[in-house]
Amino acid sequence: MKGVVLAGGTGSRLFPLTKITNKHLLPIYDRPMIYYPIQTLVDAGVRDILVVTGGRNSGDFLRLLANGKEFGLKHINYTYQEGEGGIADALAMAEHFADGKKICVILGDNIIEGNILAAAEQFRRQPSGAHILLKEVPDAERFGVAEVADGRITRIEEKPAHPRSNYAVTGIYMYDQTVFQKIKTLVPSNRGELEITDVNNAYIAEGAMTFSFLDGWWTDAGTFDSLLRAANLVAQSVEEKRLAEQGAVLT
Ligand code: G1P
Repeated sequence: MKGVVLAGGTGSRLFPLTKITNKHLLPIYDRPMIYYPIQTLVDAGVRDILVVTGGRNSGDFLRLLANGKEFGLKHINYTYQEGEGGIADALAMAEHFADGKKICVILGDNIIEGNILAAAEQFRRQPSGAHILLKEVPDAERFGVAEVADGRITRIEEKPAHPRSNYAVTGIYMYDQTVFQKIKTLVPSNRGELEITDVNNAYIAEGAMTFSFLDGWWTDAGTFDSLLRAANLVAQSVEEKRLAEQGAVLT
């Protein structure tokens, strides 16, 4: 399975932090934001990765990540999203790279505590369709929200005023090669973007969507509050790991 990190957009919700740089280059504790989703893909056994960037700072990604040596990679692919078309529009840029293979897509501002190896292994065995990861949250209205009945997702609503469940759709999506055909049928939403939720609903309509729940904490980092939360969660995890290692040395 190949991997795609979506790191475009203007980051307008973080203005003026994003006035002179891309959101995904901002620090989350001790690393630039984009490091975390790349590590998530690498931890899931993905070695062939495409970074989709955009805007004025796209060259900085190449300078920062180069060929991905820090992640044990030999090479990273880059592409450029023109304009502001939304997540599904950015993903359309990955069609040539995917070359008919399955892909694991992760939003560049999604940071997780654990890993998605089990879900990735499950999807590698799934003959076709899609797989998404859900997380129970107290503020579901900020996200895509999944309705689940009889062990299946029946519908996803994008940022509903009155969520029908607490199950947020995290920004980690696994798709077969039909995803690009589905993107071509989309029309822009009220916010003028091609929505990833519409792609997911197309898989649900075909009965081709499976899901699992993400273990450990999950956060996005696209607002001032979530950016701070992400840094605090990462700092706490780093400290916990350090103490655990110290304990292991002492015992
Ligand atoms: C996007 C998706 C949303 C998803 C979220 C996860 O929202 O549209 O469905 O739950 O990412 O981070 P955005 O934060 O880009 O508005």
